[in-house]
Amino acid sequence: MNQGRQRPRELQDNHPSLMPADEAAEMIIDVRDVSFRWNTASFPVFESANLNVQRSDRVFIEGPSGSGKSTLLSLLAGVITPQRGSITVLGQRVDALSSGQRDRFRADHIGFIFQMFNLIPYLSVVENVTLPCRFSALRRERALRSAPNLDGAALALLDGLDMAGGDIVDRPVNELSVGQQQRVAAARALMGAPEVLIADEPTSSLDTDLREDFIKLLFDRCAEEGTTLVFVSHDRSLEGLFDRTIRLTGSKGPLILNNQEGETLS
Ligand SMILES: Nc1ncnc2c1ncn2[C@@H]1O[C@H](COP(=O)(O)OP(=O)(O)O)[C@@H](O)[C@H]1O
Ligand SMILES: [Mg+2]
Repeated sequence: MNQGRQRPRELQDNHPSLMPADEAAEMIIDVRDVSFRWNTASFPVFESANLNVQRSDRVFIEGPSGSGKSTLLSLLAGVITPQRGSITVLGQRVDALSSGQRDRFRADHIGFIFQMFNLIPYLSVVENVTLPCRFSALRRERALRSAPNLDGAALALLDGLDMAGGDIVDRPVNELSVGQQQRVAAARALMGAPEVLIADEPTSSLDTDLREDFIKLLFDRCAEEGTTLVFVSHDRSLEGLFDRTIRLTGSKGPLILNNQEGETLS
């Protein structure tokens, strides 16, 4: 998909920012003029879409099923690349990287909470949480800055998400309640302090009051690390908790993502 683009810039020393420090400190995600269409689709999901996200922002992305929420997250995380436009995360043009470099970038810098959590059933709670450190030396090193070992770092994160009590951490993950699984998934995404946390409808199977509790815990953990949060949901009642809302309307034809706070274009 990247034919004709400039050669990828090499990732240097695993360091997130290749930009001047003050510039990088502000702009974490910069989507410019992005158009994306799935191979099999007759019309694009995004056409000339723009989005800016600043450091420590807590952004809510809202829209009905099929409006492109997950597609947008996949673009931000470099799982897919746009046919046109640029996507810059932490100063790095992710759309210009090779597939392997994008995988590496994602492992180092982006925590992902999936809708179905995607916990590994044959691993313990703590093993699930420490998993990102197997794929990223950078996250491993960061996790070990505040704890003597990875298990300790995982338990501290679980504790911060109200999940350390009793024998919970010794139980197989598929015996946990939905709310508990969600917290394990959140702890895993936060492990090793990735700069960006992306959550794709992680609360859709929870009751409303549990959703708010969870989001507030997530905010606290993000505030501690200065993590930028991009949170997707079709549930507009959660919107008021966030700094900023991006609305995808998903009605007919191509969508345009607007970068004005709380505004929508379609
Ligand atoms: N892997 C895929 N292949 C082809 N089309 C897809 C794929 N994933 C999503 N789509 C299409 O892209 C559009 C946006 O989907 P999606 O991003 O999953 O929306 P949402 O997350 O808001 O429900 C829909 O029309 C959907 O059918
Ligand atoms: Mg989705």
